[in-house]
Amino acid sequence: MTADQQWDIVSGVGVTALAVAAGRAVETARPDALIDDPYAAAFVRAAPSTVPFPLTPEELRERSGPEEQWALMNAYLGVRSRVFDDFLLGAAREGVHQVVLLASGLDTRPYRLEWPEGTRSFELDQPLVLDFKQTVLAQEGARPDCRHTPVPVDLREDWATALDSAGFQASRPTVWLAEGLLPYLPPDAEERLFTEIDRLSAAGSRVAVEYILDVGTELSDSLLRDGGSELGIDLPALLPDGERRGLAEQLSALGWEYESRSAHESARLHGRPLDPAPPAAEKVRHVFARRP
Ligand SMILES: C[S@@+](CC[C@H](N)C(=O)[O-])C[C@H]1O[C@@H](n2cnc3c(N)ncnc32)[C@H](O)[C@@H]1O
Repeated sequence: MTADQQWDIVSGVGVTALAVAAGRAVETARPDALIDDPYAAAFVRAAPSTVPFPLTPEELRERSGPEEQWALMNAYLGVRSRVFDDFLLGAAREGVHQVVLLASGLDTRPYRLEWPEGTRSFELDQPLVLDFKQTVLAQEGARPDCRHTPVPVDLREDWATALDSAGFQASRPTVWLAEGLLPYLPPDAEERLFTEIDRLSAAGSRVAVEYILDVGTELSDSLLRDGGSELGIDLPALLPDGERRGLAEQLSALGWEYESRSAHESARLHGRPLDPAPPAAEKVRHVFARRP
């Protein structure tokens, strides 16, 4: 990996992981919280960032009016975390005991969720992101609730060999998650991601994906640009160009069965309608697929 391909928690795509952790801290502090992430605020406090991320609903209100971008994004992030928590735990409870979290960032699902006996989990992200995460979790005295292995990789390169060396077993059904990842992968790396997932998935494996239709145009939208720059994130600069095949087409070609729903539907299901909606919410889909 060359230096320009790597980032830490306060540079490049790494900052997005910090921003999402701040979102989980706010969600955790809500009286009607959809998730409980006891480590989210500690990551933000420990990061050498100059951005004063709000960590509670009160700080969020002080910093920005309810109509502002970041407050709207926060409401969505709580829903998103819960949707994928439920998907992963549902699969594990139905006997899919191998879990692979792709681009896990600062999310702490192996630590903050209660996993069935025998669950084996792996998380993949950039080395410096995972180093920072492990340091903070150790300081917090965090212990995973299942056997868990961080796997430092670049998901644009050969990540499967590192996963294999970490103890992954392709003969066992796996539940995979790609949350907040696809926009940052070049189109060829996205295609490889799904062909590798398919190659490594035994029958009965599942995958959940956060998918944004027309990602290039949507995330370069001026509203999102402004919201991102408020957080020190130059979003358009982080998004690789290029034509992408739709996710449905990729999954169908691999023979996976899938269903999807909009972020709005997910939010309504959890009693949290996105109203007003964050920018691009219309284009965000939650995709759930299964290998027969
Ligand atoms: C928006 S964050 C989402 C993190 C996590 N899924 C969550 O929701 O909190 C994007 C994550 O993708 C990771 N990522 C993006 N491209 C990557 C790559 N090529 N290799 C490894 N990790 C990557 C970043 O390091 C970052 O942690």
